[in-house]
Amino acid sequence: MNILLLGSGGREHALAWTVASSTLTDRFICAPGNAGIAREAECVALDIADHAAVVAFCKSNKIDLVVVGPEAPLVAGIVDDLAAAGIKAFGPSKSAARLEGSKGFTKDLCRANNIPTAAYERFTSAEPAKAYVRKQGMPIVIKADGLAAGKGVIIPEGLTEAESAIDMMFEGGLGAAGSEVVVEEFLVGEEASFFALCDGETAIPLASAQDHKRVGDGDTGPNTGGMGAYSPAPVMTPEMTARTMNEIIVPTMRAMKAMGSPFKGVLFAGLMITKDGPKLIEYNTRFGDPETQVLMLRLMSDLVPALIASCDGQLKNFDLRWYPDAALTVVMAAKGYPGDYRRGSVIEGLDAAGEIEGVEIFHAGTKADGEKITANGGRVLNVAARGKSVREAQARAYQAVDKIKWPEGFCRRDIGWQAVKREKGG
Ligand code: AMP
Ligand code: GLY
Repeated sequence: MNILLLGSGGREHALAWTVASSTLTDRFICAPGNAGIAREAECVALDIADHAAVVAFCKSNKIDLVVVGPEAPLVAGIVDDLAAAGIKAFGPSKSAARLEGSKGFTKDLCRANNIPTAAYERFTSAEPAKAYVRKQGMPIVIKADGLAAGKGVIIPEGLTEAESAIDMMFEGGLGAAGSEVVVEEFLVGEEASFFALCDGETAIPLASAQDHKRVGDGDTGPNTGGMGAYSPAPVMTPEMTARTMNEIIVPTMRAMKAMGSPFKGVLFAGLMITKDGPKLIEYNTRFGDPETQVLMLRLMSDLVPALIASCDGQLKNFDLRWYPDAALTVVMAAKGYPGDYRRGSVIEGLDAAGEIEGVEIFHAGTKADGEKITANGGRVLNVAARGKSVREAQARAYQAVDKIKWPEGFCRRDIGWQAVKREKGG
């Protein structure tokens, strides 16, 4: 079949690498793609925010399946627009993507269905939000309701910072995303990323992973899109996975179906594993980045039939198999990220790095300039590896990182520390 993948990050390169290896894939196109994806797919300069242009492209290229990587087109309803034109697309409808597009929507769904999550209130103006913060006291979490490209969550140090975060959001500092604000309880525990493949009715758990959101070693500094990940996450024991399915994912699927918005696609639950069990921090309605890079390294089954089964409501008797190996990815970013950074610096040594046993390099913000690969974004490369243990995968990934010559880039040196500590019995 002819497949179109939308997106240009490390997640999309990992998906492209997987889709390209499927026996079902004939022609494979990615829009807009990056320098690494160009080795797996034909890359086309299509504006994925322009749904009419995407629909027209699919028609003229006889696309059988569209796989949507990022959240923005999902929340904007690209799956509905493709469906209206008779084109099959993997991912949720606009109304089901509210699980990511509106934090208030998800919190209310949790409250109505007894899904464990942080206690909260929703606000549409600053004064009542501040009064609630004063009543609850510190620590507390302030969230913009809508999509804010990872900048919408503030964990203030004190009351003054909390109040100025509320003012910033209502004064339009995050655009329309902050016109409504959720204030919620601060949860204590260990975070994990949990993924389930859904077809509107059935949800099947994928592998678990752990992300490293802070920019600096030892989980310090500002939040980023994610500086590295590994899978499986040891905190997601079989018992914790079963509880997450029964207490969070299954009730969400049931509630979405009951309100006429059945959820299809990947449901990505950001979890806090607390002393009372798993609690939902937030939902994303797509694959994670960089979690997908490690998930795809561990996936043994063909992904494409699973994506089609999700679209067609056929996951009931579906099974996905995973390699028992661990996988880990280190993100290399341009110096300055998540703040300002420069584009255009040259990256060398990628071929030598890619030859190390078990290593796969997934590009994010890269661009081909003749024979050269240049940096073209904040997160630029994912140096990923498989191994018998997280520790082995980690050693291989950093061996590859050390072969890459890119003075304008940096990475964390401690990706996987929580799992490695456990493996050592620490
Ligand atoms: P998000 O941008 O929604 O992924 O949130 C960013 C990060 O903020 C999460 O990964 C958590 O580390 C943290 N966070 C969000 N909500 C809470 C909460 N209620 N309690 C503790 N930490 C939180
Ligand atoms: N790694 C977190 C995300 O994809 O949002």
